[in-house]
Amino acid sequence: MEKIQKLIEERVGYLIVFTLIVISFAGLVEIVPLMFQKSTTEPVAGLKPFTALQLAGRDVYQREGCFNCHSQMIRPFRSETERYGHYSVAGESVYDHPFLWGSKRTGPDLARVGGRYSDEWHRVHLINPRDVVPESNMPAFPWLARNLVDSDSVPKHMEALRKVGVPYSDKDIAEAKAAVDGKSEMDAVIAYLQGLGLALKNVR
Ligand code: HEC
Repeated sequence: MEKIQKLIEERVGYLIVFTLIVISFAGLVEIVPLMFQKSTTEPVAGLKPFTALQLAGRDVYQREGCFNCHSQMIRPFRSETERYGHYSVAGESVYDHPFLWGSKRTGPDLARVGGRYSDEWHRVHLINPRDVVPESNMPAFPWLARNLVDSDSVPKHMEALRKVGVPYSDKDIAEAKAAVDGKSEMDAVIAYLQGLGLALKNVR
């Protein structure tokens, strides 16, 4: 035993290799059980995959970097739940690829913004936030109203998501192109925002 210890302590190469083995094993012990825990992989009741239009809106949300100023993660603190509603739970995010939880809040959290405002409010707000919130420092996104959704990409995106477990049916995918054809990126982002957080919206 002493011999082995001497060998490892005197040769830094061995020391590094054995340290890495120990750390990897410890890491696996922590990470692997999470992959099998139901509460992190089961959708909450009433959670639906994004519709074709919402999915297109989610892409725009990522492209425009909305997540740089808006989190989608309500923490379980009184100050947060009073303002935004029920705290976020893992089961609400199981269809999110990638997650858009974010960590920076220049603007408010958007995890439960669905249904808080009318579509028209969002339209005016995105074209020029100052028109509805005079003190706002959110940038304007007027081009969203002029750009059309890239309808060819949506069915392919849904197929890819299905491979990682989002339960889209063949029918959903077949109808996706027609559902987004001719819609503006503005329509898509609003559809996305209006769907956010509805599954636990009325739970207090
Ligand atoms: C530079 C930071 C910044 C970026 C980028 C940004 N926002 Fe905002 N957003 C804000 C701020 C600040 C507010 C609060 C003032 C207001 O309502 O305009 C806000 C408010 C909002 C609200 C109202 C939320 C509420 O509960 O009242 C929505 C919805 C919203 N933003 C959506 C978006 C979307 C969609 C994008 C991307 C297209 C985006 N924001 C990009 C800073 C930002």
